[in-house]
Amino acid sequence: MSADLQAKIKAIPYWYHRIELPGGVITPGWAPLNPKSYGVPDRLDGHRVLDVGAWDGYWTFEALKRGAKEVVAIDDFSDSLDSYTSVPRGNWTTFDLCKEALGYTDAQCSRREMSVYDVGPDELGTFDTVFFFGTLYHLRHPLLALDCLSSVCKKWIFAESAILDDFSPYRGGLGKGYPEPNQLLMEFYPDNQYGDNNTNWWAPTLKALIHMVRVAGFKDVLGWKLMDKPDHAARCRGFAAARKPDAPPIPGL
Ligand SMILES: C[S@@+](CC[C@H](N)C(=O)[O-])C[C@H]1O[C@@H](n2cnc3c(N)ncnc32)[C@H](O)[C@@H]1O
Repeated sequence: MSADLQAKIKAIPYWYHRIELPGGVITPGWAPLNPKSYGVPDRLDGHRVLDVGAWDGYWTFEALKRGAKEVVAIDDFSDSLDSYTSVPRGNWTTFDLCKEALGYTDAQCSRREMSVYDVGPDELGTFDTVFFFGTLYHLRHPLLALDCLSSVCKKWIFAESAILDDFSPYRGGLGKGYPEPNQLLMEFYPDNQYGDNNTNWWAPTLKALIHMVRVAGFKDVLGWKLMDKPDHAARCRGFAAARKPDAPPIPGL
């Protein structure tokens, strides 16, 4: 059984996520770098969760492992991250393989090829928790995306993004970002200026990320960096977590 699963995993040319499957099988991706750093509570019992830009589904399956009653995963594969992986991504192949291996039903776990801009209560209903990881900087309209997510979120949002505090392609790269406190700005990448990847459009400072989440209708926004002195551009990442005005505080944050 696990040899068969291993063979199926191996036949897929690129894995982004490292996902633990039954029988000690682990998919050969590298993300997330440090799951604990995302600030997601250990338990999400009974939550309906939206996972934006789910890719292989690490955070979808993680929410289910943490007790979510249902997760809807969306992704819009039209942004050509193939140019980033240099091999075809195969869209939902990896997600479906993991879902089947983990034994989740369609009622627990569904996926839709849908852009974040099309998210609204009429299309998807509402969610207790929204995951918005690794996607904001791939968007042409990040504030619009946050507005759409706010329109369906009843309680908590968790966001993660590339941030500029320790890295700016315009200021000289790694260690040459915007370290001064309270820098409220974003950089715009009309071509492949950020990471030689033309699917990257914007990167905010941590402060900007926090305020973007706030103005989308959330309160008590907390923000933090993945690490203090990142030694690689890929580790220059920031997080924000927040709640809707009438929602309970996020445990552990
Ligand atoms: C860097 S990956 C992040 C994957 C995962 N959320 C994580 O953080 O580990 C970015 C994902 O966002 C998806 N994406 C890009 N633009 C999108 C859009 N407009 N709507 C939904 N998903 C989008 C990409 O297809 C890709 O799967």
